[in-house]
Amino acid sequence: MSKYNLNVNGKVQSVDVEPDTPLLWALRDTLNLVGTKYGCGIGACGACTVHIDGQPARSCQMPVASVGKHKITTIEGLDARAMHPLQQAWQELDVPQCGYCQSGQIMSACALLKQTPRPTDAQIDDAMAGNLCRCATYVRIRAGIHRAAEIASATTTGKGKK
Ligand code: FES
Ligand code: FES
Repeated sequence: MSKYNLNVNGKVQSVDVEPDTPLLWALRDTLNLVGTKYGCGIGACGACTVHIDGQPARSCQMPVASVGKHKITTIEGLDARAMHPLQQAWQELDVPQCGYCQSGQIMSACALLKQTPRPTDAQIDDAMAGNLCRCATYVRIRAGIHRAAEIASATTTGKGKK
């Protein structure tokens, strides 16, 4: 076992794990950040998506020893009040079915909206292609991303403020 200081959701936290432990398990089992899910363990489903320095990454494929000082954001760190535009849109449109894949979906969608604030359907489909949903909520995910883009833009321009 070795000790690693991980910068997670703006806080440096210590984990004592084997160097090849996937970041996913350090987050879930050691830091109790269980919003990030285990789906396939082979980088194929996107359920374990977190952000590393703002970029989406599959935490099941990343050994803790390789994380270094990079900033990790999990679904728990997306917004202190869980009111990120994506989270608002997801609730408004009832996007999840079983919910299992949805934190990974939201983390990927968040990275997309940072880069492309008003994505087209094609851009959404392209950016989200690596996030699988066994309940096939893809149509609602796409609608949720469009709605989140509207909410974010209304907040920025002040239109959404009461
Ligand atoms: S659990 Fe990481 S990609 Fe499926
Ligand atoms: S909502 Fe069930 S797997 Fe996506």
